[in-house]
Amino acid sequence: MLKGGETALFYGETMTQQNTVVAQMRQLIQILAQHNHAYYVMDQPTIADSEYDQLFHQLKALEQQYPEWVQADTPTNKVGGKPLAKFESVTHAVPMLSLGNVFNQEELFAFARRIEERLPNQKIEYDVELKFDGLAISLWYENGVLVRGVTRGDGETGEDITQNVKTIRNLPKVLTHASGVVPTLLEVRGEVLMPKSGFERLNAENEAKGEKTFANPRNAAAGSLRQLDPAIAAARPLAFYAYGIAQCEPNHGLATMSASLDWLTEFGFAVGERHFICDSIQAVQQAYEKINQERPDLSVEIDGMVVKVNDLRQQQQLGFLSREPRWATAYKFPAVAALTTVENIDWQVGRTGTLGVTMNLSVSSRTQLDFQMAV
Ligand code: IVH
Repeated sequence: MLKGGETALFYGETMTQQNTVVAQMRQLIQILAQHNHAYYVMDQPTIADSEYDQLFHQLKALEQQYPEWVQADTPTNKVGGKPLAKFESVTHAVPMLSLGNVFNQEELFAFARRIEERLPNQKIEYDVELKFDGLAISLWYENGVLVRGVTRGDGETGEDITQNVKTIRNLPKVLTHASGVVPTLLEVRGEVLMPKSGFERLNAENEAKGEKTFANPRNAAAGSLRQLDPAIAAARPLAFYAYGIAQCEPNHGLATMSASLDWLTEFGFAVGERHFICDSIQAVQQAYEKINQERPDLSVEIDGMVVKVNDLRQQQQLGFLSREPRWATAYKFPAVAALTTVENIDWQVGRTGTLGVTMNLSVSSRTQLDFQMAV
């Protein structure tokens, strides 16, 4: 029988071994995640496929040897879930609202005037972000572990797509922070997108296989998230970009929108590749012109930018009008010309001699303009 001291020694040794194995696992997971991001999101692989496979198998071997210490966010377990029969409905604890729109400088300045009237003699700073053209989702983290992903739906109720969001490679499944502290509850809002490079690769692969191609990255992202089989979503190059915090317990204590985005990046969330803090509405207009110009160089599709009052206390003072915040608006870009392809045309002659025509069209990119046709 072991004496007290021997038990402690044995326990101590196990802990040391566990620490070492877990540290090795965590290091491999981190390296693999970085390479995944470089490959799938940035489309710039940083190592050869064979080296990636070697690291992956090293992690798998460790996990087979020590199954009790397998980490929740291991990439070897990406496609754990089975196909679902249907998605469950989830009511959002905090509704996912929409944004008002402005389309030109005049409307932007009117937006600012409405804010200034409600906050007289206050300095207003604006946070300017990309308006991602993807699908809004909500992510729940409990004690740092991703437990649920839900679509926006009608804003009140969405669909539980947890299995699919867990396959998104640039999204942290377990939160860690340099401070060692993670919130007990964190609900992050953001957008799921298919970066342009991944979209082109997916379409080229599908075309080579004689399979259906997608009209644009947004459709491809939507189609991928709607899959009941997470293995299909896992094979799609999706990415998540965070743009806000719906709930945080204990309160994060941050004062501004831009500080909350920076804070999210400290947990490993990706945010937009352009971000401005503007001290006047004129500076917001300049940011708009700059982003519009740089739009073709961005790795993701955007349909405008989002202008938000930066100070979170001022946001609270401004509040909401019906379903839209008074403290934010979307500033949309002018429509891009879209290439419309006529896929096929069918003519039918009716009994009375009238001529009917049916056309199947596909539009290469989403525009603000509705398609109009005169016959
Ligand atoms: S903030 C209270 N920031 O725009 C609403 N939304 O009409 C706060 N969107 O479908 C939303 N990029 O998913 C915000 N940087 C961004 C965004 C963004 C895209 C989408 C959002 C929603 C729509 C709102």
